[in-house]
Parts: sequence; C-alpha cells; structure tokens
Amino acid sequence: MKLFDVYPLFDLQPVKGDGIYIYDQNDQAYLDLYGGHAVISVGHSHPHYVNKIRDQLQKIGFYSNSVINPLQVELADKLGKLSGYESYQLFLCNSGAEANENALKLASFVTGRKGIIAFKNSFHGRTSAAVASTDSPAIQAPVNKNHQVKFLHLNELNALETALSTLSYCAMIIEGIQGIGGVIFPDDRFLQEASLLCEKYGTMLILDEIQSGYGRSGKFFAHQYSGVKPDIITMAKGMGNGFPVGGVAIKPEISPHYGMLGTTFGGSYLACAACLAVLEIINDENLVHNAAEIGSWWIGELNKLAGIKTVRGRGLMIALEFDFPVKDLRQFLLFENKIVTGSAKDPNVLRLLPPLNINKDHIRKFNDALVRQLTKKYITNPPID
Ligand SMILES: Cc1ncc(COP(=O)(O)O)c(C=O)c1O
Repeated sequence: MKLFDVYPLFDLQPVKGDGIYIYDQNDQAYLDLYGGHAVISVGHSHPHYVNKIRDQLQKIGFYSNSVINPLQVELADKLGKLSGYESYQLFLCNSGAEANENALKLASFVTGRKGIIAFKNSFHGRTSAAVASTDSPAIQAPVNKNHQVKFLHLNELNALETALSTLSYCAMIIEGIQGIGGVIFPDDRFLQEASLLCEKYGTMLILDEIQSGYGRSGKFFAHQYSGVKPDIITMAKGMGNGFPVGGVAIKPEISPHYGMLGTTFGGSYLACAACLAVLEIINDENLVHNAAEIGSWWIGELNKLAGIKTVRGRGLMIALEFDFPVKDLRQFLLFENKIVTGSAKDPNVLRLLPPLNINKDHIRKFNDALVRQLTKKYITNPPID
C-alpha cells in the first residue's frame, strides 16, 4: 500500500523533539514556532508528560467507556479549576472536528432545531456538520452540503439578530480567534452582544477554542477576554500536546442522557494521562501567564519592524501579514535559518504558534532572521513611491 497523497510536504523529517526544538535524522535542530499546527502546548517530549504517559501505559492503556475511569474525573476536575469552568460538564473525544461535531449535535438535541450560524473565514474541522460550518467549499463534498448553515460576517450584529430571530438555528459556532483564517478576532463587544442574542432566541453559543484555547491566547480560553460564558466550549490541539484528544465543555443546565453522545476511544487512560500531564505543566510552569507576557512583548517587537503590513495576535497566536506571498519567506526561514513557521488561508500571512514555554532568546532568533530576509528583499525590490 502507498499513502493516500493529500498533504503537500516540506522536505523535513523530524525524528526527535525537545522543548521548543525538533531534530531531523541528521540531528539538525529546528526552532519550532508552529508546534505541529498549534498542538504542542507544553513543549516537545516534556519529561513530566513522557513519564506520566509511560507510567500509565505500564498499568493499563485502554478500556472502553463502559467502566469506571477515575482519571476522567480527575481531568474534568483539574480542567474546570484551571479554566474557570468548574460547574461545566466534560465530554471527551479524539479530535477537534469530533468535538465540534458533538457540540453541534448536542445543540440540535437540546433545541430541536437544525440550522447553524457560522462565520465567513471560519474553520471547524472536516467531519460532516463541522465541515459544513467551515467557510471553505473546496473541502466540502456533496454529502456535507445537506446541512442548513448560514455564514455571516464577523462582528455584524444586525445580520446576526435577523437570522437568530427566525428561531431556526440550534447553534452559533465561532472560533475564539480565527486560526486558519489568519488570526482574526471577533470584537469583545460583538461576542458579548451575540451571547445575549443567542440567549434571547434560544440558540446555543458554541465557542470553538480548538486552536485558541489551552492558554495560547494568554487566557485559558480566548473568549475569556470578552467575559462571555458560552453554552458549549470545544477544545483539542494543545489539550493533549500531540496525543489525539478533544473535549466538549457543556454548561450545567444541559442534562445528559445515556447514549446521547459516545465514542470508543475518547477519554482512554492514556489520553487522560497525557491531558493531566499537560494541565499540571501549564499550572506548575505558569504557561498561560508566560503566553500573555511573552506574546505581548513579541507583538510589540514585531510592530517595530519595517516590511510587515500588519501584526495581529493575542498571546502566542500571532499572524504577520505581508504584501507578498510568504511561501519563499517560510522556505528561507526553514532551510537557511532552521525555523519552522505556519501558513494561513491567505497566502500573504505567516502564522506563529509556538509552544507556550518559549523564551525571549528563541524569539530574538526568529526576529533577527526575519529582519535579515526582509532587508534583503527590500534591497532587491525597493518600494516605488
Ligand atoms: C479552530 C479549529 N477548529 C477545529 C479544527 C479541527 O481540528 P482537528 O484537525 O483536530 O479535527 C481545527 C484544526 O485546525 C481548528 O483550527
């Protein structure tokens, strides 16, 4: 068998990870400012993370959700305390898309409605309702196109109220910060008003914190800047630091019943051990605070550099928009400077999503490389005015 070839690949073969670095087969180190797409929250192969998963595997790795698993209870308890959502209920699954799929399903069960409100430029994953709520027709197959999804512009309250007042929408799903869309924020006031409107018209507010959650924005969840309390919050990526997990946090007023949601693998002993280790490291190393502090310093430094059209970011979720496609810049950073960066839907946008324990020395290395390349570009193509 050969691989189903759906991913364009960089010529890079990581065989080892350590903190903010990954290493190729020749032991060449690369500074990882991408974290495998915002997944690596506590750094590669953190000793506490490795030990906790290894110790758990030596006891028991998996049993299905038909037996008592105290690690799930411990995880829900720790997550509630660290995120400020102690009264919420946790459903564990295996990926971001699956978390959103379950969140949308739950909203539909609770309200008895079918319609979904989503936003232009959104990304919510590749399962059926999740991809239907993603503003990207190219990745929707005909089988995904039966969902009733209305895409609205971010921050437009009138259009939102007009839609909600039809009482046909079970959910409004919105990213805490649009990730693949290029680090675009809903205004705090928009979220506050939207939350009130959802309540008024009986629509569930789902905050997709799959990329922007777990401390990345400098708060545990990005929507906490606005003070809203969503009905349902979805998470994945940083939650397991690479172990495939997803989670749905559900407000206490929503009552579960047996069979309402389910999964074979979700919440396994190993997944819980990985997630518990992540939360313990985030807590012990004060990583949400680090993301806030170092992120705002970094954004300040980036704003001083010439040649960047816009810098957008909160904490360690940062986008740099240029007036040229970033493909060559990313290649230069990767192959000449050994720095891994991310892209976005917009070809002119470079995304920075490093592990949350990054320090100023790592960041200076990137900033210096960026200045070198931008200066070279400026000398070769001076702006015409
Ligand atoms: C905001 C957001 N939601 C959902 C997903 C889907 O997550 P997964 O790839 O784990 O299914 C992603 C993945 O990039 C994402 O960024």
